[in-house]
Amino acid sequence: MQKFDTMLLENSEENIDYCADLIKKGEVVGIPTETVYGLAGSALCEDAIDKIFSAKGRPQDNPLIVHIGQLSQVEQLAQNIPKLFYELAEEFWPGPLTMIVEKKDIIPNKTSGGLSSVGLRMPYHPVALEIIRRSGFPVAAPSGNVSGAPSPTTARDMFEDMQGKIPAVIDGGFCNIGIESTVISFEKDGVRLLRPGLVSAEDLAEFTTVYIDNGVEQKLSHNEKTISPGMKYKHYSPKAKIIIFDGTCEEMCNYISEKNDENAYAVIANSDESKVLKGQKFLTFGDSLEEQAKNLFFTLRELDRLSASKGYFLLPNKSGVGLALFNRLIRAAGFKVVKL
Ligand code: TXA
Ligand code: MG
Repeated sequence: MQKFDTMLLENSEENIDYCADLIKKGEVVGIPTETVYGLAGSALCEDAIDKIFSAKGRPQDNPLIVHIGQLSQVEQLAQNIPKLFYELAEEFWPGPLTMIVEKKDIIPNKTSGGLSSVGLRMPYHPVALEIIRRSGFPVAAPSGNVSGAPSPTTARDMFEDMQGKIPAVIDGGFCNIGIESTVISFEKDGVRLLRPGLVSAEDLAEFTTVYIDNGVEQKLSHNEKTISPGMKYKHYSPKAKIIIFDGTCEEMCNYISEKNDENAYAVIANSDESKVLKGQKFLTFGDSLEEQAKNLFFTLRELDRLSASKGYFLLPNKSGVGLALFNRLIRAAGFKVVKL
């Protein structure tokens, strides 16, 4: 793999042009989106796709989402597109929704991980949209972390994972949403939710029947088939051990204090909740489910910066964006929940 002196670029017209140019030339760059930072390269260039997989250390069978800047690109890239696709695009694009449809041959098999389908998304982050539009290509962009690590929600976090491996990361600020896009596929009479995100099952149910895939809430068994290969892999794991606790904040703090581990952290909603702490270290990650989703990956990385041995979280409520929070946390915790 080529070595780079990776640049951390500020958000400017010039740097947006520079990143779009790199993509044109078959290079890959770190870009902000409203969900998480992505590792972006031309979806049509096999060489760029190889670079993405190798910088991330990603398994070759895990397909990449293809990001577009205009609705007219859909028909260049995909075929047999259901009417519902356009209804959902009208409502949720540009935004954090990825829809899987049948791909056209123009998309290399490397991009789709060997599948005959492609996941399409039009992001709303202005830096992402501008870079995609100026590059003139559909842009493949997985989350900008090393495979298995928490997704990056700041340019600095992406820089840390990708330093030396790519030419540049452009800074577009802290990602507003903080967890990756909702991923759906189409069924005869509705959609299948493969990965929950800010566009929730309830939001989609306003339009159609929503089937929640088995892999959303539980670990898939060894040979269980899945439409979305990403669900098979270990994910979002910091070095600290993540433990989900089913109970009250007070019960969780009592439980931690009995363990006598001075490097264990309680991750709680806000400093009000710190009243029930039993002297242990803590981090806060927000009052609402939306705020908690926004701060989740940053907090997982923060635990490692603090050399935490463990991070304890309360089991989130699974309604709305809570299902996405649960889906990411349960993976980070290796699918175990502690209940007394
Ligand atoms: O918010 C996001 O979606 C971010 C930003 C950068 O846009 N991207 C992202 O990409 O999260 P990635 O590669 O980290 O996750 C994509 C997920 C994987 O679980 C993958 O298996 C699934 O989407 N996926 C992509 N294309 C698919 C396809 N054709 N069929 C089934 N699953 C697909
Ligand atoms: Mg990812």
